[in-house]
Amino acid sequence: MEKKILIFGSNGLVGRNLSNYLEGKGHKVFKIDLTNKFKEKNFFKCDITKEISVKNTIRKITKKNKIDVAFNAAAANPKVQKIKSFKFSDYKLENWKKNLDVDLIGSFNTSKHILKHYESSNSGKIINISSIYGVVGPDQDIYFNKRQKFHGKKPLEYSVSKAGIIGFSKALAAFYKNTNIEVFCLILGGIEENQDKKFKKRYSNKTIIGRMIKKGEYNSIINYLVSNKTPFLTGSCLDLSAGALNIL
Ligand SMILES: NC(=O)c1ccc[n+]([C@@H]2O[C@H](COP(=O)([O-])OP(=O)(O)OC[C@H]3O[C@@H](n4cnc5c(N)ncnc54)[C@H](O)[C@@H]3O)[C@@H](O)[C@H]2O)c1
Repeated sequence: MEKKILIFGSNGLVGRNLSNYLEGKGHKVFKIDLTNKFKEKNFFKCDITKEISVKNTIRKITKKNKIDVAFNAAAANPKVQKIKSFKFSDYKLENWKKNLDVDLIGSFNTSKHILKHYESSNSGKIINISSIYGVVGPDQDIYFNKRQKFHGKKPLEYSVSKAGIIGFSKALAAFYKNTNIEVFCLILGGIEENQDKKFKKRYSNKTIIGRMIKKGEYNSIINYLVSNKTPFLTGSCLDLSAGALNIL
């Protein structure tokens, strides 16, 4: 049966894959991001750090549509290749705040306003996206050929926000106990994109399957969550790490 689905962060690597896949399965997808970079239909421009922007966007969409599932896939997600190595003692609070703003404040705004809609029908799902770095600390060595002492590349607030999303997902699922509102979290491992060869190799050695996840490899799980009744899974944080969380 066709579901109506919101995707926050629809231009991103994960968001775009989700929206193409779910549209291909016959669902109606409402795409939400900062700009309509890919000239998509059913696109809504919205900055999730601004509550009023989120409120108006969700109101516009839900006026005529009952939403079944909302994905929180927007993230500041600073690309490691573009980040200069930094000493944590010199790291800028401004960067720290920017990432937490999109990931944690953004998730607050999107969840608050979609839940208002879900409460009116006592049904709906939220699927948050987190990362292995919300569970384990990034080994900075995999981002360098030769690391200088005290320097790192992967920003630590990324881990803070991803850990926050895991806690938020569980607490929110528990908050909606005895309702038909469900909350999930997907803990993704590294997805293969255009990372450099050495990084890929070093990262892959930390997984059980010996490689990064391929784009959309987890789509069957997405389809299961979207298409089925899953109250027994609410509050779950599903490990989609290719074993990165399960090997020393
Ligand atoms: N790509 C990976 O390898 C990987 C691995 C593990 C976890 N994840 C997680 O998956 C999620 C998505 O990551 P991604 O790789 O698709 O990131 P991405 O950077 O490709 O996409 C993020 C999207 O969010 C949008 N966005 C940023 N700020 C916004 C704002 N204020 N309002 C609205 N939209 C905003 C961006 O424009 C972008 O399209 C993140 O939570 C990330 O932590 C990704």
